[in-house]
Amino acid sequence: MRLWSLLAIALTACMGDMGMDMMIPDVIDVPASAGRFDTVAAVDLDPAPTVVEVALTARVADVELAPGHVTSMWTYDGTLPGPRIEANVGDTVKVRFTNSLPEPTTIHWHGVRVPAAMDGVEATQAPIAPGATFTYEFVVPDAGTFWFHPHVRSDVQVERGLYGTLVVRGPGEPATTSDRVVVLDDLLIDDAWSVAEPDAMQAMVGRQGNLILANGRAHPIAAVIRGGLHRYRFVNAANARYFRLALPGHRLTVIGGDGGLVPAPREVDDVLLVPGQRVDLVVTATNVAGETLEWQSLPYDRGHGTGAKPAAIVFQQQNDDATPVTTPAVPSSLATIAPLPAPRVQRELRLAESGGHSPTFSINGETFPAITPLAARLGDVEEWSIVNTTAMDHPFHLHGFRFQLVRPTADVAWRDTINVPAGQTVVFRTRLEDHGGRWMFHCHILEHAERGMMGELEVAP
Ligand code: C2O
Ligand code: CU
Repeated sequence: MRLWSLLAIALTACMGDMGMDMMIPDVIDVPASAGRFDTVAAVDLDPAPTVVEVALTARVADVELAPGHVTSMWTYDGTLPGPRIEANVGDTVKVRFTNSLPEPTTIHWHGVRVPAAMDGVEATQAPIAPGATFTYEFVVPDAGTFWFHPHVRSDVQVERGLYGTLVVRGPGEPATTSDRVVVLDDLLIDDAWSVAEPDAMQAMVGRQGNLILANGRAHPIAAVIRGGLHRYRFVNAANARYFRLALPGHRLTVIGGDGGLVPAPREVDDVLLVPGQRVDLVVTATNVAGETLEWQSLPYDRGHGTGAKPAAIVFQQQNDDATPVTTPAVPSSLATIAPLPAPRVQRELRLAESGGHSPTFSINGETFPAITPLAARLGDVEEWSIVNTTAMDHPFHLHGFRFQLVRPTADVAWRDTINVPAGQTVVFRTRLEDHGGRWMFHCHILEHAERGMMGELEVAP
């Protein structure tokens, strides 16, 4: 009896994994296409130099994802990605938002240290009903590449196209020939190029798409001035896909991450960008007129057979024919960041899953929304150990506060999203500064967050 049940368990586990494998579709190969590459800049309606006021509407719109292929998406202002809001550190950002979608929504400002009432989560804001409006208003305290997206049914709403960027510049930005945002996403489309209906079976691994998008288009071309030093601010807005970015044959220089510039540039061959994260890279274009290079996403195993997929093309970079420019040098020092002191509070958060036909996920045994908020005090430095007890990676994101990595590597760079590899533990420190209130933390694989891998921190003033 005992042997039989053990066999049955082993067999189910094995079949489960094969089933999972088949839930990860192959990527559709689309030829490169010219046309718009960059995201659309938002219009600042306020003439005051320190106020950026934007009107934003969420609505259904037809988007041409590849030449001749039009898909009905949910968008901010009809574009994919939504507008790029640009501000300087210390500016007031005011967003007059209208919801013209068929269902309630909110806007969460991922990585921006806003007051809790402006964070766009259900703990602090009733979702904005169809036809209703809401004005988000906050000061942007940090330079960096941030993004915004709904925090209601995020697995469905973000997948359908609701995301945009907020670029905040500070005094010490390095001189580069270009400075552009590249939002990465993948979409699961059916034969008619419509967004496929959500499927409970995809929940375990997270919904991985079959069409890779860079700035809302499949296989676009980024024109660059030859010989120039080009800055790319990458954002991973995908529900679940991990992008391991590389420009084969070239080294990449990382100059920033989630929370702005890092202390010193670092050369790498490739960089892993998990859902929610940002990375700032510079690359030097060669002097060869017309040279075309392919940015790729290399294989990465985040569990359940994901590592078996081959490298995929993300976009092309093409030298234009103009005269080469003199290449600015990358400064050897970019930012000064003091390490956070020893913590007053230590916590352990255990990420777990329970499988089956409709999987659920938990943190410390609790499945959102049936959770007990963690009690904390404003001003404290805390150290969190995120323990991943599952067989796949989870990208962990904390709202409201930025953190520094302690283990596996000590790193002062400011982050708000970190990959916790399968079976491993990641430790970070954070200072609960400026804003009390209720803050969320969760896995940024949106299917996991929406199925319970989410919690709250109550910070008392
Ligand atoms: Cu980008 Cu709570 O998320
Ligand atoms: Cu997860």
